[in-house]
Amino acid sequence: MRSSVRKSADPVAAKADLVVVCVPAPPRALAGAAAAVDAALGGLVAAAVKDGEIDGKAGSATRFHTGGALAAPRAAVVGVGGGSVEDWRSAGTAAASVASRVKTRSVALVPPDDAGATEVEAFIDGFGGAVYRYDRFRTPKDVKPPVGRLLVHSPAITAADLARADRIVEAVDGARRLGDTPSNHLTPTMLGQYAKDLADGIPGLTCQVIGPSKLEKMGAGALLAVAQGTEEPPRMIVLRYSPKAPARPGEVLGLVGKAVTFDSGGISIKPSGGMEEMKLDMGGGAAVIEGIALIAALGLPVEVVAVVPSTENMPSGTAVKPGDVITAMNGKTIEVINTDAEGRLILADALTYAAREGGATRMIDMATLTGAVVVALGEVYAGLFGSDGEWTDLVRDAGESSGDLAWPLPMHDRYRPLIESRIADLTNSSNKRQAGPVYAAQFLREFTDGLPWCHLDIAGTGMVGGRGTGYGVRLILSVAERLSEPAPL
Ligand code: BES
Ligand code: MN
Ligand code: ZN
Repeated sequence: MRSSVRKSADPVAAKADLVVVCVPAPPRALAGAAAAVDAALGGLVAAAVKDGEIDGKAGSATRFHTGGALAAPRAAVVGVGGGSVEDWRSAGTAAASVASRVKTRSVALVPPDDAGATEVEAFIDGFGGAVYRYDRFRTPKDVKPPVGRLLVHSPAITAADLARADRIVEAVDGARRLGDTPSNHLTPTMLGQYAKDLADGIPGLTCQVIGPSKLEKMGAGALLAVAQGTEEPPRMIVLRYSPKAPARPGEVLGLVGKAVTFDSGGISIKPSGGMEEMKLDMGGGAAVIEGIALIAALGLPVEVVAVVPSTENMPSGTAVKPGDVITAMNGKTIEVINTDAEGRLILADALTYAAREGGATRMIDMATLTGAVVVALGEVYAGLFGSDGEWTDLVRDAGESSGDLAWPLPMHDRYRPLIESRIADLTNSSNKRQAGPVYAAQFLREFTDGLPWCHLDIAGTGMVGGRGTGYGVRLILSVAERLSEPAPL
């Protein structure tokens, strides 16, 4: 669903189903619109604060019936804690959870008067994320109508702030929805069409979808090798955004995202338990598509090229086999030891394409790449690898401030023997059960043409409980915002 946001006047008179008042921890005297709501409720909120019943802890929520004292039938007091972005986001989540328990179509938000655009944006982000539903395949009569409107009562917020926050929610939800879509409803062909339709609606954004015959001419042998086991034709989806006046002329941000719409493992087939979750193996690609669309929709002054290699990974009589040697687009040969290490193969050609055809001057790739990164970091932090210290620091900071967290893991030449083959330039997997996520990063680095590059292994953060998370969209936006400042001398 899409939460539409706009300003309105008096919260006491607001025609909403639920009025949400925000209180910090420790609580301060209620002021402004919050005081007006409290007065209308005969001081109930202030009394509960005084009593300690409402402590303002981030993510806490207390619900009141208004009994006609406000135009809205219900009010909730939500804690915004110390006021960090994370606190505000969890306040949004708490408000959405109150809204979901009672019949709510519209919500009026009353932030403290000193809360600015950053805080309200984080609230909307948390709220929008928590009211997200994936009901496409349910019988319509079983589907509860979603919260459709959020009214923000604050002198500090402009309509433009709200439009921006809404667009962010739309992009993150878009990526989650792509993840949640079953693979028979989201083939590589359909993902390409999705990207085209998205680009059609956004000025400055163009999309080109490359199919098998052109891939063959380009020598994209690694992507084609993975695709040869499925009836579905592969796609290399290329989006480009060129702003009118870039802040750093000549700089092109390259985004690469893995989009395996279903990963069975191929001939090295996966166990059947939980295999349905491998429809989510396109989370990196989804984040990259929605990320570049968001940058373009917000009109950031950064030139961006996004490259999303997409295929299924299936076993069949024509599938690539363990021991086969293939040639990637940059000419390097790869001995395929394990057909389930398919992500690094398709990313190899996409990185080459971004660097050589896309003109990227610095790159980030995102991929649900290894089960081992889930063991190492769980669903909180993505694994972060990089070839350039400054670039990696920038990406890490962007992750931290956006809430899409990423923690650095090492790369070192002494890991290189892992990716060496007896008969080809590289192998895609080793029998040593060592440093799986690092192995993958060392492999990918061979395809980056020496550009500043970061790799995010989002196998843990991109899918949680079998659902898409939209991880990476906010991080991409935050990176692009940093590149929207003129380069330091
Ligand atoms: N898509 C998987 C990684 C994955 C696993 C994502 C679990 C999310 C949850 C990837 O293609 C894969 O199969 N990786 C293998 C690599 C191995 C064969 C070197 C893995 O992690 O087991
Ligand atoms: Mn795999
Ligand atoms: Zn995979």
